[in-house]
Amino acid sequence: MARIAAFALLCLLLQAAVAEPPAGTEDKVRPGDYDARLSLPARLIRVPVADPGEYFVPPELSEIPDTEYGEMVRLGRLIFTDTQNFAKRYVGNGLNCSSCHLNEGRKAHAAPLWAAYGMYPAYRKKTKSVQTYPERLQDCFRYSLDGLAPTLDTPEIKALTAYSRWLATGAPFGVELPGRGYPPVARHRDPSSTHGGEVFRDRCALCHGPDGLGRRRRDGAYQFPPVWGSDSFNRAAGMNRIGTCAGFVKANMPLGKGGTLEDMDAWDLCAFIWIQDRPWDPRAGTWKSLFSKPPGGG
Ligand code: HEC
Ligand code: HEC
Repeated sequence: MARIAAFALLCLLLQAAVAEPPAGTEDKVRPGDYDARLSLPARLIRVPVADPGEYFVPPELSEIPDTEYGEMVRLGRLIFTDTQNFAKRYVGNGLNCSSCHLNEGRKAHAAPLWAAYGMYPAYRKKTKSVQTYPERLQDCFRYSLDGLAPTLDTPEIKALTAYSRWLATGAPFGVELPGRGYPPVARHRDPSSTHGGEVFRDRCALCHGPDGLGRRRRDGAYQFPPVWGSDSFNRAAGMNRIGTCAGFVKANMPLGKGGTLEDMDAWDLCAFIWIQDRPWDPRAGTWKSLFSKPPGGG
């Protein structure tokens, strides 16, 4: 009984926390975005869109074929949305791939997989090398999940590649699709972490906790992921770059109210998040991590 009451209370809280989409856009919800996620009530993940023709629409879950390939796609989806359980041995923090790649990797402007898949192999400044798609996946394990890179022959990498390839079914290859990555956010002064702290308390603490360490469900899994601390992404992750973080936050946070923050508020928030503690850059030695300025501040 207490459990049901607690659940009902949580539902009410969530309902209060997530705003309705702007008037007139309620019906324009991308069909692919209805699929229930593992950890959140379905209404939290619907994405109101101004023009349904604007972005590529990945296939529906029901369209996964009943073949060996389809099995691999299903496994990839599970790994992507519940990395904590399905790729446990490679994860070092409390996040799932879908903590940042929202709506199971479908949401435009949250680095959707369908926009990424057809753009590899590609040269990356970060590694100063040409990376294949599976190699790109390895980096998100090492840095965003503060874990270990699965080798290229593991089922984890194969399944995630199959899932991405399936989401991109029908998308043009080698074309920079609208909605890839995050949109740039204008900046007209230096970001202020002090102001960022105030905005964080107002707009983010409700879900991510006043201490930024996230909120866990009863079973111990994160309902709301940590944005800093030992269970968050490490210093070498893309999200640790203030500009990249600002792009993600402006387009996607507070969850369900993406696009409502002022540009400079997104920068300030990310400057505030950046000054907090998080796991070190695994590429740097202890000495460097202790005594030099962490990367990503620019
Ligand atoms: C802490 C947040 C975070 C988590 C967790 C995360 N990623 Fe990423 N991922 C990013 C960021 C940031 C980028 C770079 C986006 C950009 O710069 O446009 C990225 C980029 C990517 C790209 C390339 C996108 C493109 O358009 O080229 C792929 C593919 C990817 N991630 C897959 C994964 C997979 C698979 C996982 C789980 C194993 C994962 N990510 C976990 C933040 C995250
Ligand atoms: C309504 C609850 C809610 C609010 C408010 C909210 N977030 Fe989130 N945030 C989430 C959830 C849930 C996720 C993970 C998405 C998923 O699992 O589908 C997330 C993911 C993130 C991530 C990437 C994952 C990680 O832990 O690093 C960052 C960064 C982030 N939020 C920052 C913010 C900031 C900054 C604000 C304030 C502007 C904010 N959030 C407000 C619910 C919320």
